Amino acid sequence: MSSVLTVRGGVPLSGRVAVRGAKNLVPKAMVAALLGSEPSTLRNVPEIKDVEVVTSLLQLHGVTVAKDPVTGDLTLDPTDAKTAPSTEIDAHAGDSRIPILLCGPLIHAIGEAFIPDLGGCKIGDRPIDYHLSSLRSFGAVVEKRPGGIHISAPKGLKGTKLELPYPSVGATEQVLLAAVRAEGITELRGAATEPEIIDLICVLQKMGAIISVQTDRTIRIEGVQELRGYVHSALPDRNESASWASAALVTRGDIFVQGASQLDMLTFLNTYRKVGGGFEIHDDGIRFFHPGGKLTPLVLETDVHPGFMTDWQQPLVVALTQADGVSIVHETVYENRFGFTDALIRMGANIQVHRECLGSVPCRFGQRNFLHSAVISGPTQLKGTDIDIPDLRGGFSHLIAALAATGTSRVTGIEIINRGYERFTEKLEGLGADFDFTDGN
Ligand code: EPU
Repeated sequence: MSSVLTVRGGVPLSGRVAVRGAKNLVPKAMVAALLGSEPSTLRNVPEIKDVEVVTSLLQLHGVTVAKDPVTGDLTLDPTDAKTAPSTEIDAHAGDSRIPILLCGPLIHAIGEAFIPDLGGCKIGDRPIDYHLSSLRSFGAVVEKRPGGIHISAPKGLKGTKLELPYPSVGATEQVLLAAVRAEGITELRGAATEPEIIDLICVLQKMGAIISVQTDRTIRIEGVQELRGYVHSALPDRNESASWASAALVTRGDIFVQGASQLDMLTFLNTYRKVGGGFEIHDDGIRFFHPGGKLTPLVLETDVHPGFMTDWQQPLVVALTQADGVSIVHETVYENRFGFTDALIRMGANIQVHRECLGSVPCRFGQRNFLHSAVISGPTQLKGTDIDIPDLRGGFSHLIAALAATGTSRVTGIEIINRGYERFTEKLEGLGADFDFTDGN
């Protein structure tokens, strides 16, 4: 039986939520521990599905992962790393996209890697061509096998010069994790520089790596023979923070997000202010609130950092259904991240999606068959409906729409939200949401 959340909408969300380490950093810092010659300790680890998946993948490869019962800190000991049976690795296929990042660390630790076919949110094709060509550039041999890919490096990984066709977050991390212990110098041009990547660089620097980030998206890595363990506290999850910020706006509520950090959210905060959202920066977090009155429509383009992040787009689109006028959102990172608007339209939102680039800069998806621009006219009263959650951020967006709607919504597929939002239903309860949860497990 699948879990069902029955939401009775119309209650402003109000209160406090705490965000912990970023979903888009923590699993990668866990993988980095494989590169060390001694144990590492990771702090501020959220209880989310992606952490469970990476824990079991690391354990399969002989890494001991111990969790402190009080703090939740993880100690990862890679000293007995070993090859894992491919059938067992395969059992994890479909769970997450993180396994691809095990390639470099596994090659350094045990000479080879087998990576199952990848899962993750269905928000586009999500290919791994940049990852594989980067690994080949280091001298790795990539071979397709049933259920996944096998990667080896008979002569070891060698430093290289490479350029990404697009500043991919995952491919940049792939290069970092391979280069830090490769022989010689690696120069990566066209790199992504998201705060989670910089935090991963901090982790690697603590381990003994030598990495410099230049202002022109070039990252230079001087390979070293051995890395130590690290002790690191993960940066807070700016995507979860932005999600709760949008929830406050959509439900006309007032949410203090403990742990939210201004530095990582500068672009989001500018946009939030332009839409008419209120915020107050405190030392320990940010208070987000609907100040009353009308919200203002806007024209927005998602982009790589320091642009407006694609993960912030979906919850904000729900807020734009409540703005007074026409908003335009041009999604330039993923070709298929507006599928979630179908459910919003069923709830009464007025949204059209277009193939054209409705933004100031034509993107990679223009003149192709991708519905990647949205026109949202508001304000519209949302009505409760049945929703099956499609992906992480889209699912969160559906939920906040249901929480703002008149009437009742029946939401299934809630497990997807647990991939990236820790103790999600507990947090909703704390914010005064009116819902019943039937756990299907
Ligand atoms: N791309 C390729 N080939 C590749 C890799 C990427 O064409 O080999 C394309 C993608 O298809 C996409 C674009 O490059 O169009 C950007 O993808 P990127 O590699 O940057 O994304 P990712 O590393 O797979 C991470 C986050 C995403 C976040 C993006 C963008 C993790 C685990 N995931 O994905 O987070 O949206 O960066 O910032 O870090 C989420 O949290 O809900 C989420 C999807």
